[in-house]
Amino acid sequence: MATAQCELCDESGDTVERRVYRAIRLAQGPTPGDKELPESLGFIKRLRKDWLAAGSPSRCIEVAGGHGLVSLLLLSLGLSRDATIVDPFRPRSFDTLLSAFREAGLLPESYSLQYDERPLDEALPYLLRGGDGGGGGTVVVACHACAHLTRDLVEIAVAERAAGIAVMPCCHSRRTVAGADRTKHAADALGLPLGVVADIALLGRLEAAGYDARLRVVEACAPSSNRVVVAFRRGEGSGGARLWEGSAARARASEGLSRAYERVHAARPAGTGRKARNRERREYRAARERDK
Ligand SMILES: C[S@@+](CC[C@H](N)C(=O)[O-])C[C@H]1O[C@@H](n2cnc3c(N)ncnc32)[C@H](O)[C@@H]1O
Repeated sequence: MATAQCELCDESGDTVERRVYRAIRLAQGPTPGDKELPESLGFIKRLRKDWLAAGSPSRCIEVAGGHGLVSLLLLSLGLSRDATIVDPFRPRSFDTLLSAFREAGLLPESYSLQYDERPLDEALPYLLRGGDGGGGGTVVVACHACAHLTRDLVEIAVAERAAGIAVMPCCHSRRTVAGADRTKHAADALGLPLGVVADIALLGRLEAAGYDARLRVVEACAPSSNRVVVAFRRGEGSGGARLWEGSAARARASEGLSRAYERVHAARPAGTGRKARNRERREYRAARERDK
């Protein structure tokens, strides 16, 4: 098998993915449910390309991290060297996984991994302002931060100018999505699930806040919670909100629209347009029928 071509391979040719599965199978103690690893891996695979394109920011904060698999995988895959998990309810499975990853030699030689057991509204502003000695260049990630948690963390990350934000929202409800009932009505009118409309609105929110945002899909997750919104801050000086991919795109669109309206409104004498010509044809045919 051509493992060397796998994007998640290590130097030994084995895949980090396979080694992680093996490590969790051998782990002693409570471990997360079977779907957690494919979901966390799927989440990381969907944000990896944008992460590398953004210059591989080394620090990440995983909000609502629970078992911490996303942070452990980011460290094992060499995407991050410094991870902090924020979750006020630290499960025992995190300690099992940490030992299993260590024993399997999956973690890099030098790394930092912290667990901050405060709610996100306390911990995240502190961490993003560098209260722990951190600072800028940080990516905030959250895999299935339920209901309003995703919204809350995105607002804090935007306000604190995080370098990147990657979330896979879940448990959308009319009470917790931005726009509440109005968003639910829009979704119903379009015949779309509320989560789809809310996640696309989130994409727009991040674009308007100065991020290049993309929406990706994780096949391993249920359709109600399989969309990843991944966003990296545009460079300083490129402006905050952006409506166009570039001034050339706007100029092309503007030219096309002007040409279309010129044709529609082109000054021509009354009674010489397409409708008038069609009327004349109908009247001519009717007259011929009468003369027969
Ligand atoms: C659905 S779990 C997601 C866990 C993990 N990220 C995953 O992918 O399975 C949601 C997590 O949010 C955490 N949580 C609840 N309230 C929170 C808060 N105010 N701040 C941060 N995390 C919170 C819970 O403890 C739980 O671990």
